[in-house]
Amino acid sequence: MSEFTEALAKSKTRYIFFGGKGGVGKTVIASAAALYTASCGEKTLLSSTNPVHSLSSCFGQKFMGKGETRVEGTDNLYALEIETSATVERYRENTRGKILDFLKYADIPVDPTPFVDAATTNPAFEESAMFDNVMDVMLQNKYDCYVFDTAPVAHTYRLLGMSRMYDMWLSKMIKSREEAVSLKKSLSFKKEKKEVDDPMVQGLIESRRRTEEIRKLLTNPELTSFYFVTLPLALPISVVERFIYWVREFQIPVGGVIVNQVMPPTDSKSSFIVNKQEEQKHYLELIDRKFKDLVVAKIPMFEGEIRGVQMLKMVLDRDAALDFC
Ligand SMILES: Nc1ncnc2c1ncn2[C@@H]1O[C@H](COP(=O)(O)OP(=O)(O)OP(=O)(O)O)[C@@H](O)[C@H]1O
Ligand SMILES: [Mg+2]
Repeated sequence: MSEFTEALAKSKTRYIFFGGKGGVGKTVIASAAALYTASCGEKTLLSSTNPVHSLSSCFGQKFMGKGETRVEGTDNLYALEIETSATVERYRENTRGKILDFLKYADIPVDPTPFVDAATTNPAFEESAMFDNVMDVMLQNKYDCYVFDTAPVAHTYRLLGMSRMYDMWLSKMIKSREEAVSLKKSLSFKKEKKEVDDPMVQGLIESRRRTEEIRKLLTNPELTSFYFVTLPLALPISVVERFIYWVREFQIPVGGVIVNQVMPPTDSKSSFIVNKQEEQKHYLELIDRKFKDLVVAKIPMFEGEIRGVQMLKMVLDRDAALDFC
């Protein structure tokens, strides 16, 4: 058992995230980790927050458009590819409703279209919608363990940043809504018979409560771990370095660094292989220097592409045998 599988087995961590540069093996390793927690008896949901999904292709099974689907060949593992376009559309309608209500209750007689457009066409709108969906998944409490296969760094950074932005936006909305209601009351000649709860403020307060709950889960080291996947190469290493800094800024607990596609030892005299191994040796030393105790697993480079439950199960088995790194 490796340090990584030991951590997966022992920890009560319920939300496990995998991030890193594009193409480093996030989907493969998140899938292998989810298979592992499921095999330990934990009912696990493996969910992708990457708009370009690849869980279906990684398992060779179709998950897209099917909601939470049991992974064939396993007992406890379910997969979910969140449908970005449907999520974004639903979120757009919801935001539109909130803005229309806001203008209506505040008695502001203006054309709502520019406000709706401004709110729903901003560059981070897709991430906001995804974040909302991740919150739904995290709060559903149907599984023992949630594993998230995330999109490449920039997208995930904005996604995580949403937990802060969202909270700030909601607080501002609640404040201006309360000010509008109080202004309306003081300008009104009619005496309200009875104070009624403002449904819009109630809705916003509920959304803020949800965001706050998510932030508590995401920042609790007993419940959340963020793992970083890298290759023994310069670019993915520097991406992980920056990424660790951001995640810590968000107070999200760091689980560790996983080095993927490490070349196993060989007797080959091919200059291509010898040079490649020299290069990897250099970057493995750099990884050890930069991340010191954070490295929890080194996964070998497989002979071919990793697809299907059987091959995915081997990813962490082989990690256990990797004493050579
Ligand atoms: N240890 C490995 N040995 C051999 N091939 C691997 C290994 N890890 C991953 N791969 C292969 O590398 C490719 C990229 O892996 P994967 O899709 O998991 O990366 P990713 O980080 O999720 O990519 P993206 O950023 O596009 O989501 C896949 O074809 C996968 O099978
Ligand atoms: Mg992927």
